[in-house]
Amino acid sequence: MKSIVILISGRGSNMQALIEAALPVRIAAVISNNPDAAGLEIAKKHNIETCVVDHRKYSDRAEFDLLLADKIDLYRPSLIVLAGFMRVLGGDFVNKYKDKLINIHPSLLPAFPGLGTHKKALKEGVKIHGCTVHFVTSEVDHGPIIIQATVPVLPDDTNETLAARVLLQEHRIFPEAVHLFVEGRLKISGSGVKVCNEISDN
Ligand code: GRF
Repeated sequence: MKSIVILISGRGSNMQALIEAALPVRIAAVISNNPDAAGLEIAKKHNIETCVVDHRKYSDRAEFDLLLADKIDLYRPSLIVLAGFMRVLGGDFVNKYKDKLINIHPSLLPAFPGLGTHKKALKEGVKIHGCTVHFVTSEVDHGPIIIQATVPVLPDDTNETLAARVLLQEHRIFPEAVHLFVEGRLKISGSGVKVCNEISDN
């Protein structure tokens, strides 16, 4: 069975959705850059190994990335999953895990990269909003898109109501994307991703 490592920074609800999906994959470890991340307790309750690489202890971004990579490599994962991991990872890190690093973002990329996506969506008056699971490239919130889900933006929406509607979809598509990856059904093709019907061991 393939192994994955999940990186978190906070609440950990996407990580929890991955755990509860009971996918045919071993969650080898959950690693956080934040010692106070609530998600660490959730992982421990599920008997998943946890570890903290506190970014505040490293003045140098590259040093943090190297230590993080050292921790990840202990578990030899086939896939590294950014589930609300709020640190920007450097180009060397991203290249090291090329095609093995995926992220969930709470907008329909390429619209609204960065933080505050729901607020931006409300400000722009879009009628459709959503979330994206994508392979990570060195450009933040950019890279071949695996799955997206849409939600309507309703007239009375607040940041909170819209965020909650999007989060429900995040919890649905993230496990689906990880499942497709572990079945070897994702093929990066140019800037896009093809979902193959056949399961592959690669
Ligand atoms: C999610 O909205 C995710 O898309 C974004 O950060 C949030 C993390 O939430 N990258 P959680 O920690 O998974 O609950």
